Amino acid sequence: MNIRTVSTTPFSDQKPGTSGLRKKVPVFKQPHYLENFVQSIFDSIAAPKGATLALGGDGRYFNREAIQIILKMAAANGFGKVLVGQGGILSTPSASCVIRKYKTFGGIILSASHNPGGADGDFGIKFNSSNGGPATETVTEAIFARSKLISSYRILDAADVALDQLGETMLGEMKVRVFDPVSDYAELMESLFDFAAIRAMLQGGFRIKFDAMHAVNGPYAKEIFEKRLGTTSNSVMNTIPLEDFGGGHPDPNLTYAHELVDILYGDNAPDFGAASDGDGDRNMILGKHFFVTPSDSLAVLAANATLIKGYTQGLAGIARSMPTSAAADRVAQALNIPCFETPTGWKFFGNLMDAGKVTLCGEESFGTSSDHVREKDGLWAVLFWLNVLAVRKQSVETIVREHWAKFGRNFYSRFDYEGLPTEVANGVMNHLRDSFAALTGKQFGKYAVKTCDDFCYTDPVDGSVSKNQGIRILFSDGSRIVFRLSGTGTEGATLRVYLEAYEADVARHPLDAQVALKELIDIALDISELRSRTGREQPTVIT
Ligand code: G1P
Ligand code: ZN
Repeated sequence: MNIRTVSTTPFSDQKPGTSGLRKKVPVFKQPHYLENFVQSIFDSIAAPKGATLALGGDGRYFNREAIQIILKMAAANGFGKVLVGQGGILSTPSASCVIRKYKTFGGIILSASHNPGGADGDFGIKFNSSNGGPATETVTEAIFARSKLISSYRILDAADVALDQLGETMLGEMKVRVFDPVSDYAELMESLFDFAAIRAMLQGGFRIKFDAMHAVNGPYAKEIFEKRLGTTSNSVMNTIPLEDFGGGHPDPNLTYAHELVDILYGDNAPDFGAASDGDGDRNMILGKHFFVTPSDSLAVLAANATLIKGYTQGLAGIARSMPTSAAADRVAQALNIPCFETPTGWKFFGNLMDAGKVTLCGEESFGTSSDHVREKDGLWAVLFWLNVLAVRKQSVETIVREHWAKFGRNFYSRFDYEGLPTEVANGVMNHLRDSFAALTGKQFGKYAVKTCDDFCYTDPVDGSVSKNQGIRILFSDGSRIVFRLSGTGTEGATLRVYLEAYEADVARHPLDAQVALKELIDIALDISELRSRTGREQPTVIT
């Protein structure tokens, strides 16, 4: 078989964002675009000859074509073996599981997570290292630097690999093993959680509804909930992965997962509801007529961890991204364990977990996980909750309210302004930066500004420094307003405003978050000049 070296010229826009390189499908379909990026990965990671790679994606449009290209390029670049999920499918957490279990050199995950798919939708690609986690900033920067200089890539001339059939075939001198993506992952989940206790709870009449949102977790949910936990088939919905996610937006939040939300807030609602996103790493947790914010979810799981088989020995520490609420910090304090505050994005948790400093971590953006993998893990969070519910035999709402009564409530909300012109969004951020001195010490009603800064993180393990990770307005009572530009969008700029206020008084805990945060919201709009600068009266999404 023939290895071709193809001449190419660099694209200037292959800088990975919060989670890999994400672009519209037509961008990825341009001649050489995907190939340039893949070769830049291979040129940057120094894989030894004969190394093994894991490969798969969330099944969105262009997934299969991309896999065939990457396989042929891996064969031409000296890899010895590639483990591909059947049909090209691998949820992000299961890719992490497989990289760790089979000790591969790393993996390539094809996903644009919760972004819409289809011929005009989004596509994405990222490299995960041998720890199973997203490549560090140092590696992603090396890939980007390489992409700006690349002049050729290597690819094997060969027929496509049959991706639907389990088993091994040869591609030139490289072995391709097509494996069942679900079984290794389900086995890992059974090792962490008490499936018998959850099964008994479900048989006792506890009703659940899981929404896979036409995305990658469908087959995983069917195997775990129906086969291994014995739920009825109407407990899982939208379980067939579709290339365009049924035209929907596969993001499990109150806006985009409204089909599930309507069921959980309707008459005769089930006791528990959950959803996951395009690539299966996000989760949303609902009780009967009750929503658990992701920040609270992390705190509740941490506080209940020792009830769970896989975590009986306790937690080494907790990590949360900077904009995530400090609810988890209060649990860490009570448990007398460290709590780390990292920039947004899962890649910052990897070093902490590898060094044994944290066991649980989470983000306000519906991401929670532990050191069982090095990605966030949607189904893991759902199973963790079900296991806690099976042990405590209380409702979701009671568990959360008792948690607030013990630790206080961190009222929390995020406002997203999507699709803004880049210069307008940058204008808001620059205006805020210019206001730091004037804001410090200023009183707004009951809130006094203690400090303002642009969050800068020094990794406690490798000492690397990440600057400009979001503007923080910190008030003297611990309340916060954070402004950040998204690093995952593919159209214009998305400005996120994160609001948090702490409330110890139980009598005020039932308040709606938007009501409790009203004053802070007004301050945020005022100091950022957001309305006049963007012309937007309302955010696109409120969570
Ligand atoms: C968003 C979330 C972030 C998450 C990332 C990948 O990134 O805010 O927490 O890690 O998606 O799922 P952003 O668009 O804010 O850069
Ligand atoms: Zn995702």
